[in-house]
Order: sequence, then C-alpha cells, then structure tokens
Amino acid sequence: MNRVRDKVAIVTGGASGIGLASAKLLASEGAKVIVADFNLEAAQKVAREIRQAGGVAEAAFLNAADGDLIKEMIDTAVEKFGSLHILVNNVGGNNPQKDLDVVNIDIEEWDRQMNVNTKSVMLGCKYAIPHMIAAGGGSIINTASMAAFAGDAVRTAYGATKAAVVNLTRYVATQYGHQRIRCNAVAPGLILTPAAKAHISPEVMDIFSKYNALPYHGEPEDIGYTVLFLASDEAKFITGQTIQVEGGHYIGNPTVPDFLSLANTHAN
Ligand SMILES: NC(=O)c1ccc[n+]([C@@H]2O[C@H](COP(=O)([O-])OP(=O)(O)OC[C@H]3O[C@@H](n4cnc5c(N)ncnc54)[C@H](O)[C@@H]3O)[C@@H](O)[C@H]2O)c1
Repeated sequence: MNRVRDKVAIVTGGASGIGLASAKLLASEGAKVIVADFNLEAAQKVAREIRQAGGVAEAAFLNAADGDLIKEMIDTAVEKFGSLHILVNNVGGNNPQKDLDVVNIDIEEWDRQMNVNTKSVMLGCKYAIPHMIAAGGGSIINTASMAAFAGDAVRTAYGATKAAVVNLTRYVATQYGHQRIRCNAVAPGLILTPAAKAHISPEVMDIFSKYNALPYHGEPEDIGYTVLFLASDEAKFITGQTIQVEGGHYIGNPTVPDFLSLANTHAN
C-alpha cells in the first residue's frame, strides 16, 4: 500500500491500456494520481474506479499534441495536490496505414508522431521538472518501445520517435540528477491491451510467440509494475535507463527459432 505513499503522480494516456494499469497500480500504492487523457470520459471513469477502491485520483483533459495543454495538465496537478513527484509520459502510438517504409511514409504522420511520441515527452519533462525540484526530487518514466532497438520493414516514424525517447531519457537524467530528478524509460514489447487484442490478428500473435523467449504475451500490468518500481524509492539509484519488458524478444540469436525447428525436422 505504501510504495509511493503521498506522492503526486500524473499518468498521460491513463484512460486505457498501459497507462490505465500504471495509474491504478500507482494509486493502489498510495500515490495521488492525475489521469490525463484526451478521452476525458474514460479518464473520469478510471479516476472514479480508483476512488471507489479507496485511492485518490482526478481526471484531466490532455491532448499531448498541444504543448499548452501539457503545461496546463502539470499546473492542474500542482494546484489540486500541492506538488508533483512522478510523471509517466505514456501517450504515444502510430498509424500503421500511414507509417510505412521511408520511401512511402506519409510525411504528415512522421510529423504527427514526432510531436505526439517525442516532443510531448520533452515538454512534459520541461514543465514538470521545476515543480519536482521544488518538491525535493522526482521520478519521470517515459514510454519507449522495443521498436526503438532494431530496424523494421515499416513503422519508420514509430521506431525513430521511440529511439529519440530512449536518448532523451538519458539527457534528462544527466541534466537533473544532481537535483534528485530520476528519469527512466520502459520499452514494452507486444502488450495485450484491449486495443491490441481487438486489432492484432492471430497470425501476428503467432509471430511474437515464435520469437519471444517466454511462452506467453505481455499484459498492461507487466508494464504497470515496472513503472511503479521506477517511480518508487526502491529504484532510487536507477536513472537514465530503459527497461525492456518484452518477453525476451531480443535476447537471443535471431536464428534460434529457425534452428530449433530445423533440429525438430531432423529428429522426426
Ligand atoms: N500496447 C503495446 O503493445 C505497446 C508496445 C510498445 C509500446 N507501447 C507504447 O505504450 C504507450 C501506451 O500504449 P497502449 O497500447 O496502452 O495504448 P492505448 O491505445 O491502449 O491507450 C492510449 C491512451 O492514450 C490516449 N491518447 C492517445 N493519444 C493521445 C493524445 N494525443 N493526447 C492525450 N491522450 C491520448 C488514448 O485516449 C488512450 O486512452 C504508447 O506510448 C505506445 O506507443 C505500447
């Protein structure tokens, strides 16, 4: 109940998926949480559920593409709860129909993702850090992706914007560590959020099953618990890091599944 007791936390994109799991876990461990999302109705529902479970939470409208609204969200948290200690910069995503290979990518989608996936993270840090310094320190957790660590046939903007988040995390950690600001990131693999469950085909799930080291898929809480750990003082000597929570997708030689299947073929 007390891992982040009385800390004030903002979770962007907190109305669904990974953000929702993070907001609920932070609240269950004692944080006062602002659930910020452009789906205000869904954010209000999450805040209500947290309060019904005995926690403290308020909803706030956020469009992460708008820097003024990011500043407003942070000022609202400080006005409502008196300070700010934890910021989870979770909003992000891509439009797979438009985010193609470099020759065919929609340029507007590139710009949109630079704005929503990367610039919003920088602005969240920019506006939160002075309040965190005033509070005696803070913890920022940015959401990257496993797409930050390898090339892909498509999703060019997504990979580039999430890789930028990984290094921005190091920059913030380097610049404000002496003022007791920690900044880390979490890089999820495929996580079965409601949206992912609705849109990802069984064939794509099978590809992840083939290449993940673990025999099951990730759940929003797998990221939420990592966020909670990084937010808490249990991680007080960890900064500038990106924790990959991806079922061991990248840990082995990429040819392992093919060699295993070859070995099985020869054995039969
Ligand atoms: N789910 C995965 O498999 C996966 C994998 C790697 C990385 N991620 C990253 O995790 C983060 C959360 O993803 P998710 O799968 O939980 O998403 P989701 O679609 O389940 O939830 C995203 C939430 O953010 C809100 N939102 C979207 N754009 C917004 C904006 N511009 N301003 C304010 N709110 C906005 C939505 O209303 C929604 O509530 C993203 O940064 C995503 O890139 C997800």
